[in-house]
Amino acid sequence: MPRPIRATISAGALAHNLMVAKAYASGARLWAVIKANAYGHGLERAARALEAADGYALLDFQEAARLRVAGIDRPLLMLEGFFKPADVALLHKYALTPVIHNSEQVEMLRLAALPGEIDVYLKVNSGMNRLGFTVDSLRPAYNAIRLHPQVRNITLMTHFADADGAGGVKAQLDWFNELTKPFEAGQRSLANSAALIAFPETRADWVRPGIMLYGCSPFSDRSAASLGLKPAMTLGSEIIATQHLQPGERIGYGFSYEAVGEMTIGVVACGYADGYPRHAPSGTPVLVNGKRARIVGRVSMDMLCVDISDIPEAYIGTPVTLWGEGLSADEVAAAAGTLSYELLCALAARVPVSEVA
Ligand SMILES: Cc1ncc(COP(=O)(O)O)c(C=O)c1O
Repeated sequence: MPRPIRATISAGALAHNLMVAKAYASGARLWAVIKANAYGHGLERAARALEAADGYALLDFQEAARLRVAGIDRPLLMLEGFFKPADVALLHKYALTPVIHNSEQVEMLRLAALPGEIDVYLKVNSGMNRLGFTVDSLRPAYNAIRLHPQVRNITLMTHFADADGAGGVKAQLDWFNELTKPFEAGQRSLANSAALIAFPETRADWVRPGIMLYGCSPFSDRSAASLGLKPAMTLGSEIIATQHLQPGERIGYGFSYEAVGEMTIGVVACGYADGYPRHAPSGTPVLVNGKRARIVGRVSMDMLCVDISDIPEAYIGTPVTLWGEGLSADEVAAAAGTLSYELLCALAARVPVSEVA
């Protein structure tokens, strides 16, 4: 028998969350962001469940090729464009829309003899200072791409650094509008999940939600459930051993947790080699047989310990939910000092994945 840990992906939840995103988009077209193996959910699986999207955004050429091999013919937006001249040939082969964000890419494109037409996104650095052109470089890049005989449409895009935080989008949005004012024609794409939900003025022609499609909230103060989102990934396992502790006895590596009274501990087959955050402290929530409990002591490679003193029926074989249905990954992530993005993407390859409708 394999270890009892498994991740379950709900195709229905993915499809539902897409409908929620589409409602926010109110008519704007939607790239479903499925980079990083669809935030850990499985590339082809997520693409199929999200088939009502207008296209998919990702960044790995091998993943793009896999989608084409799987028969997925929707537009594909390559969020980091291309990396080497050899990649440029793949743009037409796989009908990819690259995001062009630096002058080296402009030059690679200029020198390439494309066998047919492609669409291009041109990324504007509106203040995040990660990718994109700004004041001096935007016009030359635009002109060079415009002159390319095989470039059909140019869409101007940017990305927000703090749509989910106190900074909001105003400064970046104003700067983007200022920079792109001279470029009347063409479409625009700005919004990630947080901007899509919180800032209707960023919706433009194409929105690019990621995290909300997977049923997590981009905001620390608004739950996914309050946004109408359903968890798409549930990470579950089982208790594989129990221990009865007397006051003063300690648990796990570093003896970091000491029993204050008599306690019963359930040892769960899930550790950091499965993708559970090693830095999750004592107190991080889990569900044992559907009831809330908390982890105690350090997370080890293959196991973690849970206080099951108040769950008398808990024994070897009792199901444990690490996150997902009934326990938001956002809440677990917050307890562990990280984001649900990281938990979902970190799901380890050794965890078997199954799909439910
Ligand atoms: C350029 C770009 N657009 C959209 C997204 C989706 O963001 P989110 O998952 O916060 O909705 C990302 C993700 O990092 C991104 O890099």
